[in-house]
Amino acid sequence: MIRRILRVCNAVANPAVGPHMNFEEAVTFEDVLLAPRRSSIASRRQVDTTGRISRNIPLKVPIISANMDTVTESEMAIAMAHLGGLGVIHRFLKIEEEACEVARVKRAESIVIEQPYALAPSNTVREARRMMRERGIGGILVVAGEGRLAGLVTTRDIVFERDGGRRLEKVMTRKLITARPDVRLDEARRILQEHDIEKLPLVDKDGLLRGLITAKDLLKNELYPNASKDAKGHLLVGAAVGVVGDFLERAQALHDAGADVLVVDVAHGHSDHVIEAVRRIKACRPSSEVVAGNVATYEGALDLVKAGADGVKVGVGPGAACSTRIVAGCGVPQVSAILDCAQVTRKQGVPIISDGGIRDSGAITKALAAGASSVMLGSLLAGSEESPGYTTVRGGVKYKVFRGMASLGAALGRRIKERDEGPAQEDISEVVPEGVESVVPYRGNVSEVVHQLAGGLRSGMSYCGADDLRALWKNARFVRITPAGLSESKPHVLDVPNIQRM
Ligand code: XMP
Repeated sequence: MIRRILRVCNAVANPAVGPHMNFEEAVTFEDVLLAPRRSSIASRRQVDTTGRISRNIPLKVPIISANMDTVTESEMAIAMAHLGGLGVIHRFLKIEEEACEVARVKRAESIVIEQPYALAPSNTVREARRMMRERGIGGILVVAGEGRLAGLVTTRDIVFERDGGRRLEKVMTRKLITARPDVRLDEARRILQEHDIEKLPLVDKDGLLRGLITAKDLLKNELYPNASKDAKGHLLVGAAVGVVGDFLERAQALHDAGADVLVVDVAHGHSDHVIEAVRRIKACRPSSEVVAGNVATYEGALDLVKAGADGVKVGVGPGAACSTRIVAGCGVPQVSAILDCAQVTRKQGVPIISDGGIRDSGAITKALAAGASSVMLGSLLAGSEESPGYTTVRGGVKYKVFRGMASLGAALGRRIKERDEGPAQEDISEVVPEGVESVVPYRGNVSEVVHQLAGGLRSGMSYCGADDLRALWKNARFVRITPAGLSESKPHVLDVPNIQRM
């Protein structure tokens, strides 16, 4: 419906004889507003914001952190999943590094850790320290031949050990409180509390180690009721793959590391390469959830869905650090791109992830109302403590570095890595950047940022009289606004500095 309203003129020359001229007016977030609708929602807390990243992966908070090297590695992905969203690990890492980031998220939390990290009694204190450091854990189980539990070594046991060469059997705690593998959670909680311990190894009747429950995991379970988790209680995580070279090997490694969704991510997703890559990944692993993109047209979305994509990422050039539209002259303003792609995906039950250009919570409501099932954010999350970008101070104010993945800096970073690891793939003088490098204000913990964004979304849905996403799609009525309408929309009281309070 809105597509029809927004089309001013549609003059199409014969594509067979010349350029296709389509004078279609396309709009983006600041061009439109959602008209308020009658609402029976008593409290915004009643609104269910659940969306999806892919056919079978719902997210209670439909916000995804972008697969960019200044936005998402394991720390951000863990925080996002705790909050009910999801993080997609970027792919500008060696295959084993990206897989390790995925594994960190999958291991960050679980109800029962089925294969706890373990060492043998003959391993040394030095090896235990290294494992604790690399895996970010504070204790390691010691397992003798055939998987028999022999003891536990914690940071506390080895903190004063000067001789890193001592064997673990000399320093480990041997007498451990354990439980049966089928222990109920409330029972496990009681045992941990009663004995004031942090780790509860699960041991079968033959003394073999079958798992581990930690106090930390139980607490987190209660702390993050919205967390995005798989059936085993592990946090959900996505991981990006490319479409050339070793992409199948990478996809396999990420899948093996536990990635819940693979994101085939290329700037121009409506290309033979991407379509073929989606087909090949789905052929190798039909049960994997595969999101593909980025596209900005009906035809692009259709081809990806036909190739087997379980989610379609929409957005060509709207991102804060993108210069594609300036450099290449291509792209589609984001609201129109979503409306167009949703014509395909909604019929097929394939979610759209609106990627790029979100500057505030209002834009999230608009992206979802236009037909998306979730949004991907880069710049809005890059200033968080959990992002991997480094922090810098300018004029006494704290910022974090944020860069487009097609920026010169990102290309240079890849080039340096390749030079260190083997023959270079890319001559830097030939790079034509389609992204920029910048900084964003430091914003503290990502939980505060997501709290504000999700709160704004709930408010927007309630203005639309929508208590869930389906109702939002049904109720959404966009109005096109003028520059004066946009100016009116923004706070416009007189901004007088240093007002003295009376
Ligand atoms: P925001 O606006 O949330 O957008 O920062 C994040 C999205 O921007 C895309 N991206 C790029 N697009 N050149 C581009 O044209 C780039 O260098 C670039 N880097 C990231 C990407 O889709 C991301 O999720």
